[in-house]
Amino acid sequence: MSSVSFRGRDLLDVESLSGEDIRHILDAVPSFKEVSQRDIKKVPTLRGKTVINLFFEPSTRTRTSFEIAGKRLSADVINISVATSSVSKGESLRDMADNLAAMQADVLVVRHGVAGVPHLLARSMAQPVINAGDGAHEHPTQALLDVFTLQEQLGPLDGRNALIVGDIASSRVARSNVLAMRKLGMRVCVCGPRTMLPVGLDQLGVESTSNFDEAIQRADAVMMLRVQRERHNDILIPSLAEYADQYCLTTQRLQLAKDGVVVMHPGPINRGVEIAPEVADGLTSVILQQVTNGVAVRMALLYLILGGG
Ligand code: NCD
Repeated sequence: MSSVSFRGRDLLDVESLSGEDIRHILDAVPSFKEVSQRDIKKVPTLRGKTVINLFFEPSTRTRTSFEIAGKRLSADVINISVATSSVSKGESLRDMADNLAAMQADVLVVRHGVAGVPHLLARSMAQPVINAGDGAHEHPTQALLDVFTLQEQLGPLDGRNALIVGDIASSRVARSNVLAMRKLGMRVCVCGPRTMLPVGLDQLGVESTSNFDEAIQRADAVMMLRVQRERHNDILIPSLAEYADQYCLTTQRLQLAKDGVVVMHPGPINRGVEIAPEVADGLTSVILQQVTNGVAVRMALLYLILGGG
């Protein structure tokens, strides 16, 4: 029996999770995945609990996934997006959080364009906070659903090779995945143009390269990422066409990989830029399984934080 308990805990980043914490969460996921495969996809586990989704940045997948996860567990789910909140009337983040807490919300799910905002809110709130993406910092629930999907495909991840390709420096998905994968014993290589590779990667025990064609040959899993132009202050690449020429996962490039390679993408996909349509829709792609598993992983987290042992 694991001694890990998430009851009442925040989920702010992968950095502060141990390998045992991650395994504990992943072990809880299959029983929630089963609920989504039923004809009636609802269990009473979190009846009477209130989940507030507070999104200051655009999101389709993550917001909907948290909403569906909460509803399948019978929680009441309230969605607040910044355009309809009183932050646009000048209310501070802290006051807004105090008000949501005063309405007895049981958990706050926060996405914000500035790194550290979920951590800031967690410090001032009694209720647990889940980070749904903070700036270019972390996106812990995405990394958990990614490693769950990988484990489903590959079995034990210890010693397996992951290759993460694209705009690594801007990507909270890359950062959280590197941490989660390393904690589960994977070898990780990141790949992209020099201007998109962050400094200090060696401290995380990660290799880096700009040579996709060479790196793909060792990979058991390849995770493709979007070029996040909305986070760039400078021009990092000459043009998307030149980027695609070197870093798009095409059918030809995929042929360089080992048999059984798993192709992933957190979405949103820019078809023809980082991934060719026929690869995104092809047999090696688990992109939609990632989305399916995202609901189950978030159900497991809400259960562990709000209800479970
Ligand atoms: C990502 C995000 O918002 O960080 N998407 C997601 O949550 N599935 C990646 C991206 O925006 O490219």
